[in-house]
Amino acid sequence: MSLSISLTINRQSRTVTLDDPRVTLLDLLREHLYLTGTKKGCDRGQCGACTVLVDGRRINSCLSLAASLDGAEITTIEGLAVGEALHPVQAAFIACDGFQCGYCTPGQIMSAVGLIAEGRAGSDPERIRELMSGNLCRCGAYQGITEAVLEAQKTMTAEKG
Ligand code: FES
Ligand code: FES
Repeated sequence: MSLSISLTINRQSRTVTLDDPRVTLLDLLREHLYLTGTKKGCDRGQCGACTVLVDGRRINSCLSLAASLDGAEITTIEGLAVGEALHPVQAAFIACDGFQCGYCTPGQIMSAVGLIAEGRAGSDPERIRELMSGNLCRCGAYQGITEAVLEAQKTMTAEKG
């Protein structure tokens, strides 16, 4: 039984037909919409590589059924930059060496964007590590990742004035 749902993905309205109602948001993004920036690590909610924003909140897209998201607004890593201008979190990951192989990076960045929007990142690196603990990095780039979150938060606060 196929099912149609409407989503806003990276500011664009999309209507998609799901041939299988059990398809996850992660598989919808990667395999049907070819938005492969969102990575599949464990496919069971343990690594955070698949983190995207749904209605502004960070979630593991491998655990979320696309069929349950009719009407939702999804932001993936592809939707952060505006034209040539990187999102402040993307820029901070580059400036602070917040990655090595890069596989976990889209998930880390989306999680950081969500965390900063939650307004509870604060300035304590340990606390940021805790609040980002759902995003694993096999390369161990945690110090750079934490610095990037702090740096991006500062930039975004300054931009807000
Ligand atoms: Fe979703 Fe690992 S792929 S949490
Ligand atoms: Fe390699 Fe995080 S940068 S897994």
